[in-house]
Amino acid sequence: MAGRIPQNFLDDLLERVDIVDVVDRRVKLRKTGKNYSARCPFHDEKTPSFTVNPEKQFYYCFGCGAGGNALGFLMDYDNVDFPQAVENLAGTVGLEVPREAGTRGSSGGGSEDRHKPLFSLLEEAATFYQRALRTDPAAERAVGYLRGRGLTGEIARDFGLGFAPPGWDNLLEALGTDEARRDRLLVTGMLVRNDSGRIYDRFRDRVVFPIRDQRGRVVAFGGRVLGDDKPKYLNSPETPVFHKGRELYGLYEARQHNRKLERLLVVEGYMDVIALAQHGIRNAVATLGTATSQTHLERIFRLCPEVVFCFDGDEAGRKAAFRALEATLPAMTDGRQARFLFLSEGEDPDTLVRARGSEHLRGLTDSAAPLETFLFEACAEGIDRDTLEGRARYARAVLPHLRTLPQGVYRELMFRELAERTGLELASLMALEAPPPPRETAPAGPGKDAAEAARPTPAPRRRSPLTVRRSGHANLLQSAIALLLHQPAAARHADPTALAGLQGEEAALLHAMVTLLQRHPESSTAMLLGHWHGTPEGELLGHLAGQERLIPADGIEAQFRATIHRLLAQPERERIVARVDKLRSTDYAQMGAEQKQELRELLHQLQQLDRQSRNDRR
Ligand code: UTP
Ligand code: MN
Repeated sequence: MAGRIPQNFLDDLLERVDIVDVVDRRVKLRKTGKNYSARCPFHDEKTPSFTVNPEKQFYYCFGCGAGGNALGFLMDYDNVDFPQAVENLAGTVGLEVPREAGTRGSSGGGSEDRHKPLFSLLEEAATFYQRALRTDPAAERAVGYLRGRGLTGEIARDFGLGFAPPGWDNLLEALGTDEARRDRLLVTGMLVRNDSGRIYDRFRDRVVFPIRDQRGRVVAFGGRVLGDDKPKYLNSPETPVFHKGRELYGLYEARQHNRKLERLLVVEGYMDVIALAQHGIRNAVATLGTATSQTHLERIFRLCPEVVFCFDGDEAGRKAAFRALEATLPAMTDGRQARFLFLSEGEDPDTLVRARGSEHLRGLTDSAAPLETFLFEACAEGIDRDTLEGRARYARAVLPHLRTLPQGVYRELMFRELAERTGLELASLMALEAPPPPRETAPAGPGKDAAEAARPTPAPRRRSPLTVRRSGHANLLQSAIALLLHQPAAARHADPTALAGLQGEEAALLHAMVTLLQRHPESSTAMLLGHWHGTPEGELLGHLAGQERLIPADGIEAQFRATIHRLLAQPERERIVARVDKLRSTDYAQMGAEQKQELRELLHQLQQLDRQSRNDRR
């Protein structure tokens, strides 16, 4: 039984090989400046966006987001698992791969190895359902249903549509041939066990839609009833290989069909994606019955620069769209575009494209409202901007959202736009801290002085300022991690003990990186990528490693130090904001002199903290 491959061997191996040779033997590279480039072997493209960085020993594709070190490249290019890639690479430099005795055999590629049997069973399930759609006697209704919705066999094939026949144990009988396989079918949610221990098929008498991950592996299914029964759709539960908040239905198919994606359309339903494809609109994806997340947006923007959201024009649709907007803002680095299309009530992309055709829909998406229009209009709702007071309220409603935008020209322009729309001075807007508005208070009565009465009534809260700050927190964490990736030696500026107090997965990763790097100060970027390869952390690292434009040419260490400083100052800032929030829940007029004094002092402290962090950034 093969044991775990020791980390120091992997580090040693990566030290001895040059990723440029490894890649060049398979994909001809051209030198472009410090780096090498080629047309990406992992997606179709006309112009090269695949780069290999010899200094940091990793590759990255700006077109499809693929990236990693030499081992990752071999795994994906030669389609081998992690241990095999290590064997092959070691062979080229004449090294024998040592194994540690008595470990669980989970190295960098462990999660992939562990999940392999799950992926292959899910693939078998997809094949089973597809065959049933063609051959099961009960499938006639399903075929008729799909035809009735205007779908052809070709599209059904592209999306791998299938049919789960009626009955409790079709899949169980066909695929659950031994204990181990039944267990895996349970883990993937294809089988369900009820309270009395009985096992049965999850999907019965439904059209099924395989959900594929980025690499085209089936990770889950959705199933639709053929009539009006409830529930209309049934989906696989969260499993070790399926996380709803990350996957986008139709993304793999869209990438298969487009040499280069210029734009992705985000719609609400499986059937919308498929109906659009049927009409030649091959760039639609759907979230899986969940809100659009920041992870979704990151994934989309890694593949293409523009996203158009299609939502229902009703109240619920507008709410969902605003949530999508909030998830989009932190991803709006320069060059990216997001737009919003609202359909009339009762319409969805499926009904619309069938009734009016693809040109009509293309026209609508081309003229969809840009993110900024939607943001400024949504925040203006119910505010009278003819009054000074109204304009101040308006600014306070918009500001928290603008603050979540990443640094860049777009952010500057948005602040300018707000200044223009409110007639407020740009500098004061940028400096204006937006403390949480006090809760609604009684209208100003007699006895209040003029200054009190003129105090602007705040807009109702759209999201708590804590959420805003949390995404700022995430930004700081991500940039600290990215800086470390580019200059591992910077790790000496951080105190791991202080970092250990920070919450969340990214903080844990930063802490682990700093700890590792302080123990092995000679580690390179490639070693870091290798260490986490095949894990969710590895995916984040690969992504951050590719964002070279976020990294200054020099002064990385100083910036890392400043970033850590700001990260550690945040709990203090949150404590102050919480106290301000509390004080502000009392009407200012009812406050005692002491409380007013405290509030003034807290606001002053906040200003100081923010001024400090603005200076750090310079
Ligand atoms: P819709 O009800 O808009 O579905 O739900 P649709 O795609 O237009 O359905 P058709 O046209 O009647 O076939 C949108 C999405 O919400 C999730 C599914 O992901 C669906 O595609 N959903 C909806 C569920 O998960 N369960 C349900 O019961 C309904
Ligand atoms: Mn529909």
